Amino acid sequence: MRPVRAPSTGWLALVLATTTPAQAADSAAAHRAWVDYALHCQGCHLPGGEGMAGKVPAMRGALADFLKVPGGREYLVQVPGVATAKLSDADVARLLNWLVRAMGPDLPAGFHDYQTAEVATLRAHWLRSPGPVRKDLLAAIAALPARR
Ligand code: HEC
Repeated sequence: MRPVRAPSTGWLALVLATTTPAQAADSAAAHRAWVDYALHCQGCHLPGGEGMAGKVPAMRGALADFLKVPGGREYLVQVPGVATAKLSDADVARLLNWLVRAMGPDLPAGFHDYQTAEVATLRAHWLRSPGPVRKDLLAAIAALPARR
């Protein structure tokens, strides 16, 4: 009998040995969220969330701060670019859960993931004029106690 060599399955053994099912599910969700971001968001927000000065706000190092002030969690769903995206409620929840972690900074203690039903309710009341809401939220963020 000829010696059996199957180098093509070597990577699979490695993946199975180093990845738990939960991690695999997490990374599949992250990948899907990243693809949705690339298709629906990065035209304005740019790939790294850097935005465009004077037009689109930078999200990197800033986005999760909205979760630390009253109304911020809702705002991230109700802002027009999110609420009116051609994505399902479940897609938006997955995308936001990935985005707040990818952009940072640290999440507030007790943060719980966006849920599909929550997104559906909030989206129904999206912000036609986000500017004033955003301004108030930024003022509240600026007034947060200094972070260590
Ligand atoms: C047409 C350009 C455009 C697209 C496309 C877009 N956004 Fe935005 N986004 C903006 C602008 C401009 C703002 C600032 C608030 C406003 O004026 O709507 C914003 C604000 C936000 C905010 C709130 C952060 C802040 O600093 O106010 C989040 C979160 C966000 N966008 C996520 C997304 C996601 C996720 C997508 C894709 C599903 C997306 N956006 C698509 C332009 C866009």
